[in-house]
Amino acid sequence: MSCFQPAGHATTPSAEATTASLTVYFDGQCPVCSREVALYRRQAGAESCHWVDASECAPSALGEGLGREQALARMHVRRADGELVSGAQAFAALWQALPSMRRWGQLAGWRPLNAVLELAYRMFLRLRPLWRPDTSFERWLAAELRSDHAGETGAIEIYRGILAVSRDADVRRFAEQHLATEQRHLVTLESVKPAVLRSRLLVLWRPAGWLTGALPALAGPRAVYATIAAVERFVDGHYAQQISRIDQELGRADAGAAGGLKRQQLSALRETLARCRDDELQHRDEALAAGPATGWMAAAWARVVGSGSAAAVVFARRF
Ligand SMILES: [Fe+2]
Ligand SMILES: [Fe+2]
Repeated sequence: MSCFQPAGHATTPSAEATTASLTVYFDGQCPVCSREVALYRRQAGAESCHWVDASECAPSALGEGLGREQALARMHVRRADGELVSGAQAFAALWQALPSMRRWGQLAGWRPLNAVLELAYRMFLRLRPLWRPDTSFERWLAAELRSDHAGETGAIEIYRGILAVSRDADVRRFAEQHLATEQRHLVTLESVKPAVLRSRLLVLWRPAGWLTGALPALAGPRAVYATIAAVERFVDGHYAQQISRIDQELGRADAGAAGGLKRQQLSALRETLARCRDDELQHRDEALAAGPATGWMAAAWARVVGSGSAAAVVFARRF
C-alpha cells in the first residue's frame, strides 16, 4: 500500500502511521518541499514510511502534539516510537530510513553537522516565501481584509474625484449614490472582527483613487462609466477569490480554528464580503447600462485601471 495519504483521506494517524517506520509531515503547497518529497518517495524503502501532506490532511492525521501551522512551518518526522523531530533532525531520520540515503542520514545525524544543516535549513525557510505564498489562513485573511479596506477607501475617493470635476447631472447622481454605498462598505469593514489592520499606504491610495475618478471625469460621462465598469470588474474578481477561499476554509474539518475565527464568525464575514460584492456588481452593471466609452483608448484606459488596481492590492496586502 502506498504510504502517501491523499487529501481528504488522511483521517487518523492510526493504521498506516503506527505500522510505518516513520511518519513524514511535509508541506504539499511548497513546490520545493513537494519535489523533494517526490524524490524520496521514489527511493526503495519509501513504502515503509507514512507520508502526510500537512497542507491538506485532516487535523487528526497530524497526530498528537503537532498543529497544522507548526507542521507547515518546518519539515517534521515522527519516529516509530512516537518521538517527533523537525528540521535537520527530521531529514537525518528520514534519510536513515531510506537504504539508498542511509549513509547521508548517518552523516547528517552527526551532531556538529546536524547543527550546520539546521542553520542551512533555517536560511531556506527564510527564503521560502519567495516561491511559497503565505497561505496560513490567519495571515491571509488579515492581508485580504487590509486590501479590502484600502480598496473601499480608494473607491470613496474615486467618486469624490468624479464629483469634484463633473458637472453632468446624471454622472453626479450616479457618483453620489455609489459614494454612499462605498462609505457604507468602509464602515462595515471597519466594524469587522477580527479588526482590520489599515494599510500604511492609505496616504497613496486616497490620491490614486481621486485621480482615477477625476481624470476620466475631465473626458466626460462615458469615460467615467468605462472607468467604473473596469474598477468594479476587478473588485468583483477580488471579492470572489476571497469568498472562495473562505468557503474552502469552511469546508475544512477544522474550520472551527481557522484564523482564530469560529465557524459562525467566518460565515458572517463571508456574508459581509458577499454583500459588498453584490453592490459592486450592481455598480458595474449600472456603469455598463449608462453607456461607457468604447474603442481602443477606453480599452487601454480600462487595462491601466485594472492593472493599477491589481498592483494596489498586492501592496495593500503587505503594507
Ligand atoms: Fe465597495
Ligand atoms: Fe463599488
